[in-house]
Amino acid sequence: MEVYKDKQGIIKAIEAFKAKKLTFGMVPTMGALHQGHLQLVKKALNENDMVVVSIFVNPTQFDNKNDLVKYPRTLDADVSLLQTVSTSKILVYAPTVKDIYEGKTVSQEFDFDGLEFEMEGRFRKGHFDGVGTIVKRFFEIVKPHKAYFGEKDFQQLTIIKKLVEKYHIPVTIVGCKIHRETNGLAMSSRNTRLKPEYKDAAPFIYKTLKTAKEKFGTKSAGKVSEWVERQFAKHELLQLEYFIIADVKTLKPVKRKSNKKAYRAFIAVYADDIRLIDNIALN
Ligand code: PAJ
Repeated sequence: MEVYKDKQGIIKAIEAFKAKKLTFGMVPTMGALHQGHLQLVKKALNENDMVVVSIFVNPTQFDNKNDLVKYPRTLDADVSLLQTVSTSKILVYAPTVKDIYEGKTVSQEFDFDGLEFEMEGRFRKGHFDGVGTIVKRFFEIVKPHKAYFGEKDFQQLTIIKKLVEKYHIPVTIVGCKIHRETNGLAMSSRNTRLKPEYKDAAPFIYKTLKTAKEKFGTKSAGKVSEWVERQFAKHELLQLEYFIIADVKTLKPVKRKSNKKAYRAFIAVYADDIRLIDNIALN
């Protein structure tokens, strides 16, 4: 499996395949790959001739220096894992910061029609400018026909759809379901950093989301949120940053429930110094 560290290399390789009329899917990642990522790669392989997996810990989307420094970097293991899925149809693009940012490690500023100010955008300043900058750049380099993003980062998926719409980028964005451990914990590269007691505690997040979903059938969003806040206030290890029930289209918090709208509950929790996010469809 070829691992390209510079854009000239990968652009040349992609052009050669495209000359043979092969279609390309892309799965952007920050590495420390797990089964959740692999599910995206498998779907991409089913729907395209070739798949580019990018592995790049993007500095401009981190508002917390410590999180960036401690983010796991495991390129060799990532490549081995990808090889279990396909050896001939995957190209890996693992650029350096210099290659991708060309000496200017700053974000472009985006207007995502307000989607960027909710939830993750409120708690991680500049996060979606960083994500938008890197994903737009990947699309310019790889020019994939389709690109795959997980509902694990539902707000990111919504924002990427907005990005391609606003910039008329000719790529189809495909959303993929959240992949979970058997105990319900959403898979995440950050899970590898959890100390054992926090790893044991973390499935509480999804368990609470599932009960919140049940409660949302008969109770108001406000009442459900209060209930969730009480559960975490009582919890000894997990610290709630936010729990928000939002409209899936606007991502704005729901004020008054409507049968015509679809809602999701979104949550961010600190387990020690590790920030975990999850979400669930409510109706
Ligand atoms: P990363 O966190 O590595 O995730 C890469 C892709 O995998 C994202 O689309 C994410 O939603 C998806 N993913 C992660 N865990 C998942 C799970 N348990 N189930 C389903 N999908 C999952 O998201 C990023 O990287 C970055 O922000 C990136 C888009 C690469 C830009 O830097």
